[in-house]
Amino acid sequence: MNKEKVKQLYSKKIQEFNKNNFLYFEKNSPKISDAEFDKLKVEILELEKKYKFLKSKDSPSISLGYKPSKNFTKKSHRAPMLSLANVFSEEDLVNYEKKILNYLDKKENFKIEYSAEPKIDGISASLTFKNGKFFTGLSRGDGKEGEDITANLKTIKDIPETISSKDFPQDIDIRGEVFIQNSDFLKMNNKFANPRNAASGSLRQKNPKDTKKIPLKFIAYTFGYEKGLNLNFQSEYLKKLKQWGFKTNPLNRVLTGIKNLMSNYEEIQKKRKELDFDIDGIVYKINNFEIQKRLGNVSNAPRWAVAHKFSANNGISKIIDIDIQIGRTGALTPVAKIKPINIGGVVVSNATLHNEEEILRKDIRIGDEVLVERAGDVIPHIISVDQSKREKNHKKFVFPVRCPSCGSKTIKDFNSITKKEDAVRRCSSEGYECEKVSIEKIKHFISKEAFNIDGFGKKIVEKFWELKLIRLPQDIFNLDFSKIENLDGWGKQSVLNLKYSIDQKRNISLERFIYSLGIRHIGMENAKLISRYVKNLSNFISLSKNQNLRDLLNIDGIGETQITSLKNFFLNKINLKVINELNKILKVKEAIQVKKDGSLANKTFMITGKLIGISRAETKSLIEQNSGSIVSNVSKKLNYLIIGEKPTKRKIEAAQELKIKILTQNELFKILNKSS
Ligand code: IVH
Repeated sequence: MNKEKVKQLYSKKIQEFNKNNFLYFEKNSPKISDAEFDKLKVEILELEKKYKFLKSKDSPSISLGYKPSKNFTKKSHRAPMLSLANVFSEEDLVNYEKKILNYLDKKENFKIEYSAEPKIDGISASLTFKNGKFFTGLSRGDGKEGEDITANLKTIKDIPETISSKDFPQDIDIRGEVFIQNSDFLKMNNKFANPRNAASGSLRQKNPKDTKKIPLKFIAYTFGYEKGLNLNFQSEYLKKLKQWGFKTNPLNRVLTGIKNLMSNYEEIQKKRKELDFDIDGIVYKINNFEIQKRLGNVSNAPRWAVAHKFSANNGISKIIDIDIQIGRTGALTPVAKIKPINIGGVVVSNATLHNEEEILRKDIRIGDEVLVERAGDVIPHIISVDQSKREKNHKKFVFPVRCPSCGSKTIKDFNSITKKEDAVRRCSSEGYECEKVSIEKIKHFISKEAFNIDGFGKKIVEKFWELKLIRLPQDIFNLDFSKIENLDGWGKQSVLNLKYSIDQKRNISLERFIYSLGIRHIGMENAKLISRYVKNLSNFISLSKNQNLRDLLNIDGIGETQITSLKNFFLNKINLKVINELNKILKVKEAIQVKKDGSLANKTFMITGKLIGISRAETKSLIEQNSGSIVSNVSKKLNYLIIGEKPTKRKIEAAQELKIKILTQNELFKILNKSS
C-alpha cells in the first residue's frame, strides 16, 4: 500500500471509530457490537504502530479516556474542577504577577509567596472523604461533572482508605493526579503511546480487577469542597496531606520573586529527564488562602494559580512556501509551509508567521532554513533564520495588498489608544461579503464555546459551503437534509443524528449567542458580562441604536475598544439581518442573574476616588456577589456614592443635591461584612 492509501484507510477508520464512539457514548445507541468497536480501535492502533507518519488528534490513542463512558455514572463535582491558564516565559510571568498586584491593589514591592509545584502530566481525580473514609472518587470530566470511578481508584495503594488523624476534615474532596511512573510504563509493554494515555485507559477499565494490575500512583495537591479544613496556606495544606497519609511531590517549594521562580523552573527543567514521572511545567499557586479567595476565578481557571509550561521543543526545517490565511475578523495571517518535521512527537508542517512585520523583522524568505518552535498547545512558530544557509534564490515574500479571497483592499487599523497602526492587515470587506471570512465566521458560530453542535465540525462547514448549503449562520437551522442524505459518506442515520444535534441547539443561552456572533474583542468573558447586563436578546438588539451602546461602559471590563467594535458590528446590515433571522428561529434564554436576593438586592453603587487596599474590580465583584450593582453616573437611580481618596467634587455635590447616601470605604465594608 502506498503512503496516500494508508493515510486514506487510516482516516476512514478513525472517522468510523468516532462516529460509533459518538453513537455509543453520547446517544447510547450503538450500531455495531462492542467486539467490532474494540477491533476497530485495535486496527487503528496497529496502523499507527506500523506507519509512524500516521497521526490524528481524533485517534483513540490520543482521545481515549476523555469521552464520558457509559460504564460509569456521571456525578456533579461539589466544587468545579478548574483548569489553569498557561505562561511560557519570564515576561509572561512578570505580567501575571503585575495583574495580580493590580487586582489586589498592591504596590510593585509587595511580596507574593507562591507554592511552586511540578505539574505532573497524568489524570486528575477528586476523592471525597467523609468522616475519614474514602467515599467516592470522580474523574475531572468536563470540570462540572465527572465519572464515578471509585471502584478503580480504590485499587490504588497511594490512596488511603481511612484516615484517623484528629485534624482531618470531616468532609473534604482531596484532589490530585493519577499517573504511571515511566519505569513502570516501560515494563508494561502495552499499546499506549505514553504513560498519560496508559493511566487514563487504566482508570477507565470496566473491571476494577484490570485496573488493579496497573501500577497507578496518586499525588495529592489541592482540594475541592471542604468542611473543617482550617488552614491558611497551601504549603501548610501540602504538609498536612503528607501527615494524613497522602503522597505529595517532593519537589514542591515555597518561593517569592520572579527571579526565584525562574531559577527553580530551570533547575527542575534540567532534572526533568531523570525524574520517574512526566512533568510538563510548574504550577504556581498563591500560597495564602485568604488572597486566593480574594482573587477568585475567571471563567474556568483560578486567578490565583498559573501553569508555567516547560520551554518548547524545537527543530530545524525549511520554508517551502508562505500562504495567507484569513480569519473570521478578516485578519490576514501569513503561514509558513515547512518541510514536515517531528517536534516532540508531533509532525509539524505549518508555522505561523504572525504578521507582515514579523516576516520583515526576522527577514524570513522562501527557501530559508529555520528554527521552528512548538510550545505547549500553541501553534508552532519560527524562532529564527539560519543566515549562513541563505542562498541568492531565496525569495522575499510580498504581502498582498488585496484580500486573496474577495479582492477587497487590505487595511491596517489605527489604534487611537496606542496611536499606532495595527500590525495586522485585514480584509476591508463587510464580513459576510468575503467568502473566506464567512466560512471562518460560521466555523466560529458552531465552535465549542458557541453553538457546539455535535457532529457539525469545521470540515462539514467547508463541505456545506462548497455545496452552497450554507452562506449565513441561520442557514444551519434551515438545511435541506434531503440533499445531504445523498452525499458521499452520509446516510439516513447520520442525517437524523445531525438534525437531532442541530435541533438540540435551538435553545441557547444569551452569552453563547452573543459569543457565537464572532464580534471582534467580544470573547466569552465579555459576552458573559454583556449578557448579564442586557439580560435578554431584545435588549441586546436595541444596542444597535447607538445611544444605548455607551451604557455598556458601566460594565467593568468593557471599554472603548469593545464599544467601537460593537458599533461597527451593528452598523453592518448583514449582521443585523443574521441576528434578526436567528431571533425568529431560536429560543435565546434570558441571562441568568447572579444571586438576586443578596443583602444589596436592588441597590446601586457608584465609586469616586481611590479605595485603599482593594481594586475597583474587586469592590465591584464584592458588591455584585451580594446582588448589588454598579452604575457610572449620579442620578436618582443611585442609592450609594462611595468616596475614596481624591474623589470628584462634582459627583459629591450632585449626590448631595439628590440626597443620595454617601459612604466611606469603611462604611461600605461594614455593609459587606468585610474588614479593611
Ligand atoms: S491545581 C485550579 N496542582 O494540571 C487548580 N494541578 O491544567 C487546578 N496538575 O487538571 C489544579 N499538577 O490535572 C494543580 N500541583 C498541581 C498539579 C496540577 C498537575 C494538573 C491537573 C489539572 C491541570 C490544570
